[in-house]
Amino acid sequence: MQPGPEDALESAQAQIRELELRTKELTRRERARQREVTAVRRKLREFAGDLEFALELERRRASELEQAYYDMVLRLTRASVYKDNETGAHIQRVSFYAKIIARSLGWSEVDQELIFRAAPMHDVGKIAIPDILIRKRGALGAEDRRIMESHTLIGAQLLEGSNSRLLEMARDIAVTHHEHWDGTGYPRQLQGNQIPIAGRIVMLGDNYDALRSCRSYKKGFTHEKACRIILEGDLRTRPEHFDPQLLDLFRTIHPEFNEIFERFQKEESLGL
Ligand SMILES: [Fe+2]
Ligand SMILES: [Fe+2]
Repeated sequence: MQPGPEDALESAQAQIRELELRTKELTRRERARQREVTAVRRKLREFAGDLEFALELERRRASELEQAYYDMVLRLTRASVYKDNETGAHIQRVSFYAKIIARSLGWSEVDQELIFRAAPMHDVGKIAIPDILIRKRGALGAEDRRIMESHTLIGAQLLEGSNSRLLEMARDIAVTHHEHWDGTGYPRQLQGNQIPIAGRIVMLGDNYDALRSCRSYKKGFTHEKACRIILEGDLRTRPEHFDPQLLDLFRTIHPEFNEIFERFQKEESLGL
């Protein structure tokens, strides 16, 4: 018997019911999937929040630790200044010169701040040098000079052994701020790029400031004379001692060095 129109209708209705059931089932599954996705997203957000919180705590802890290192070494630096005939103002000025050079070299703000904080520690090793030697006037004998020059190695020993970037840079500076580009410095007679850039930078600032400063045995030189000695040399200082790239920069930025020195002089005379 041929199926009649009623059978066809029934079959079509059965198919529609089947389709409706399947659609319902698919909709139910889709909703369940979406609920799962939402739950996973919420968990991920919670996890990201926890992670962000943990990272923030870690960042805060690291910066507190870095600050604690800095405070501790600054105190050590102050103690070394008491022994030295250099003034506290000298180490502060060296920080400013170093930052000016770093900025002119295109260093990031973070790294400029790092050298600003590390530079004052360059002579921290003098804390271990006998007072009698530090205050001695005139030329030192070979043995005395050897002891005096050891302030670089002692400084490095005091500052090494931590993974603080600040102390690592301070260590590099302490051990290399008397090295010369042409290999005639101390303690290791390093040459050129063997000397870390932070050491080369501080060496230039330290020399400029020493030339400008009064000592028990000499008056401070004018800015012009200090520049002439650095750029053209005298009996002790040779242009070959300095990194030629830094010397080139110095030709342009030296007025800023003068501004720093003059500002400190003014503040000192006003008793600030
Ligand atoms: Fe030194
Ligand atoms: Fe110095």
